Amino acid sequence: TLEVDIAKTVTKIKPTMFGLFFEDINFAADGGLYAEMVKNRSFEFDKPLMGWEQPNTKRSSLNKQSGVATPIKVSENKTNTNFCRVLINDPQGYALINEGFRGMGVKKDAKYNISLKAANHGNAIKKIIIQFIDKDKKVIGETSIVPTSDEWKNYSVQFTATQTEAKAKLKITFEGTGTIDLDMISLFPEDTWKNRKNGLRKDIVQLLYDMKPGFLRFPGGCIVEGRTLADRYQWKKSVGNVEDRKTMMNRWNVEFSHKQTPDYFQSFGLGFYEYFQLSEDIGATPLPILSCGMACQYNTGELAPITELDPYVQDALDLIEFANGSVDTAWGKLRSDMGHPKPFNLKLIGVGNEQWGPDYIERYKVFEKAIKSKYPNIAIVSGSGPSPSGEFFDYGMQELKKLNAKLIDEHYYESPKWFRENATRYDKYDRKGPKIFAGEYAAQSVSGANPNNRNNWECAFSEAAFMTGLERNAEVVNMTSYAPLMAHEEAWQWTPDMIWFNNLEAYGSANYYVQKLFSTNKGTDLLTITNDGKPLTGQNNLYASAVKDVNSKEVIVKLVNTSATPQEVTVDLKGGKLASKGTVITLTSPNLNDENTFAQPKKISPTETEYKLKGEKAQLNLGAYSVTVLKLRME
Ligand code: AHR
Repeated sequence: TLEVDIAKTVTKIKPTMFGLFFEDINFAADGGLYAEMVKNRSFEFDKPLMGWEQPNTKRSSLNKQSGVATPIKVSENKTNTNFCRVLINDPQGYALINEGFRGMGVKKDAKYNISLKAANHGNAIKKIIIQFIDKDKKVIGETSIVPTSDEWKNYSVQFTATQTEAKAKLKITFEGTGTIDLDMISLFPEDTWKNRKNGLRKDIVQLLYDMKPGFLRFPGGCIVEGRTLADRYQWKKSVGNVEDRKTMMNRWNVEFSHKQTPDYFQSFGLGFYEYFQLSEDIGATPLPILSCGMACQYNTGELAPITELDPYVQDALDLIEFANGSVDTAWGKLRSDMGHPKPFNLKLIGVGNEQWGPDYIERYKVFEKAIKSKYPNIAIVSGSGPSPSGEFFDYGMQELKKLNAKLIDEHYYESPKWFRENATRYDKYDRKGPKIFAGEYAAQSVSGANPNNRNNWECAFSEAAFMTGLERNAEVVNMTSYAPLMAHEEAWQWTPDMIWFNNLEAYGSANYYVQKLFSTNKGTDLLTITNDGKPLTGQNNLYASAVKDVNSKEVIVKLVNTSATPQEVTVDLKGGKLASKGTVITLTSPNLNDENTFAQPKKISPTETEYKLKGEKAQLNLGAYSVTVLKLRME
């Protein structure tokens, strides 16, 4: 029997309690959330024609190549350095084809917007023909552009796909012979999230929106740090005109890859403005994380000397101005010019991703001083290094405590067993010390960055067990997020991941549904739930937490049974009157290895049934390996 005192609030639950951690890993941005379908649209990859094929460039009857595309470098210093010069000798025999991000997902009757820049030398080319082709090279959508100028000019046109195809390609052919220069060949579905032109994939954002996330952390992860300082994420390069955002190699290019991804670059089409906008759209508090002058310690570990930290600190100050400054400030004006005159209401900023040791603390102090003196109301999120324990972790925690750090980011990727055994992790954390942001965690079925890690049910319910511990400790744990957030079926570097997608579909893993259950039932006030006066933290393989929601007037009890057999539980709810009708939401699956897949995307997903309360005590039969949420209305 468990006891819940409805009348006694332990603490208020922060609206940020359950949120999202977004990193451009596993093709999450380009090739994923950012709906651009053309890979290497502006010929800026290290190999400028990567992603582009030129079949039929063989010699034609004129004994010449039928055509050839040559990348031209304009200037090293420009942001959009390259364009593509196409010479067409025999229009019948030449095509330029973009392969997309592991193909292009096109849907029958859906509309697509293509845009490009062209300079038509002497107006020799009469027409640019644009087609979708399926995997058998059959045309499944077609349009054309008449290039009317020998100067650079923008063209755009819409066309419709006639067939659904997961592996379509974009084929460009020409009428006429001569030379034409092309750049920024870009293709988006018309149907994007909120119908924004050249926006985000609707199905993926919907999955995020449905979670009612408390915050959105971006843009990572290791990607914040870069392998070297030169290729750290620099937010200023990700705002303004899309074509002026300099393409860069992604830090997850090749390395750690089960399937090599040498074609992993960042176009920054999804940049900081879009991240802020996305946060606003899904009702999440934005949490940008910036480089603290330390490159990824798993790579070069390069350090910016303290005396040269100014540009890094300035980036943080300017970002706050970009997000919150009036339109009379330089960065506030840019935000307004980009379409958002109102501030984004930034309240949190992260300094460094997963850095550790004295080098981090030394740099953190510089940032802290600068940010606090100019923006005292902005809370800083600091890192604790790779958690869950160890010499560097302990050092960081102690030092940050001395500095009165507000929020410390802990990361842990551990076994399901570890998660079950560590539901008490925060029980002993100092209530008066820094608050905790469990910023990256996931149960790994194998371990480490191993390609065999699965999003299986054992991992998911073990996380749920652990999460009752996060919730029970809401006094100290103010923010939490699973990581990584998403992965392309054919282009990932890290498993497990909460959401899986291909070019046509996306689904939530079992872990997604666990996160969603907690996030959409987070309540407003933490209650105690005890068994013989003690919290339920794994006794008899049972875990529990309880909250109430003063807005919806509900008591919400979360129960996790990690054993292979069902268990009867009685919840004695005291201190308030409850309606007799309630709801029980159950998430369960019979086998530890069960998973959601593209074929069965909702195999493990919640089911909701009516609950009848008889008296003050709720009787529940918790199925084997199950997560249960009981919701009862307060009268
Ligand atoms: O989530 C994957 C990686 O794990 C993140 O980029 C990094 O912060 C952590 O080491």
